[in-house]
Amino acid sequence: LDNGLLRTPPMGWMAWERFRCDIDCRKDPTNCISEKLFRDMADRLSEDGWRELGYEYVMIDDCWMSMQRGSDGRLQPDPDRFPGGIANLARYIHDRGLKLGIYADMGSATCMGFPGTTLDKVELDAQTFASWGVDYLKFDGCHSNAIEQLIGYPLMSKALNWTGRPIAYSCSLPAYLGGLPPNVNYSYLGNICNLWRNYDDIEDSWASVKSILDWYSTNQDDLQPAAGPGHWNDPDMLIIGNFGLSLDQAQAQMALWAIMAAPLVMSNDLRTLSADARAILQNRVAIGINQDPRGIQGRRLLQELGHIEVYWRPLSHSANALVFLSLRQDMPYLYRNSLANLNFPAGSFEAYDVFSGKTLSGLTDHTIFTVSINPSGVVMCVSGQLFYGSVKEEAVKFPG
Ligand code: DGJ
Repeated sequence: LDNGLLRTPPMGWMAWERFRCDIDCRKDPTNCISEKLFRDMADRLSEDGWRELGYEYVMIDDCWMSMQRGSDGRLQPDPDRFPGGIANLARYIHDRGLKLGIYADMGSATCMGFPGTTLDKVELDAQTFASWGVDYLKFDGCHSNAIEQLIGYPLMSKALNWTGRPIAYSCSLPAYLGGLPPNVNYSYLGNICNLWRNYDDIEDSWASVKSILDWYSTNQDDLQPAAGPGHWNDPDMLIIGNFGLSLDQAQAQMALWAIMAAPLVMSNDLRTLSADARAILQNRVAIGINQDPRGIQGRRLLQELGHIEVYWRPLSHSANALVFLSLRQDMPYLYRNSLANLNFPAGSFEAYDVFSGKTLSGLTDHTIFTVSINPSGVVMCVSGQLFYGSVKEEAVKFPG
């Protein structure tokens, strides 16, 4: 969507995967969906070094609403859990240099049964969000049929535009239409949405990360060309720092989401995050790859019989990122190959190993290199000069 927003994939935090629809604030005051949870996360984003790295959106998901619309027909937050209202929460978040995302559903009810946005309410809800100072809308698609969705999603795009407030627009439409052409027309979608969910919800497990990665890679010929500045595929949230991934698997999610030009939207508890998870999520080079201003989504280059996969993303200024993924379950695997064999453009390279910090030098296209890849882990390398964020104009230059 050409609204000037999300020229690189969005970065931030979203409640859903980690906090779901926990609305019992009496039993679970620290984790329930309430203004306190979002203020806590805003505090962490602004005080723990996240905002400076680009993690700027604090995003509410389902279960924030009151069970009924107000007497004026407007959506309203649950009064016990959001006593200050959303406009106040937006102010709190903006005061910390962050942005607020909110959730609504194109249909008669949200997935969890809160008031939906039927076609007659699209404009009103867009205006309400704008009046509160919302910066991003995730528009889900439960409880509607394909015809309503095909009308409602573009209508919301226009309605957000009419408010005059820049509001990034995330569409769940393709996920409800099966995610692939001919049901989904990605070039059309790129004109109405800034990003879109194509596939299943992520869960807190490696099996879930793997199945999502595999679906995006299997269908990359349809999906990869759809992505670019202002319009992105969304394979769903980062679950790094929760319970389901080992450290190697967490690095793998970070590396592959960087290759896929995916939103870096964490759903974890930033208040209790381990140092290891933080180091992965705050890896500047991985973020720099994800946020490359050219915005070309990467691809799976090959699947070896030995359960090693190679991924590649071309970056600005002729830089390249490569990921070697092991889907093995035995021991660190010594993978040998050459750049020429991977069909890389000829030339000589020095490559930087993103998670170990080592530099591999003296690499020419025919050099046989060996990387040691842990089971369900990755080695991610980048060559050339990486520009981290077009706005920040900050160059991370390597090798030294
Ligand atoms: C389905 C979406 O895909 C999830 O990300 C989440 O928003 C839930 N609905 C909320 O009900």
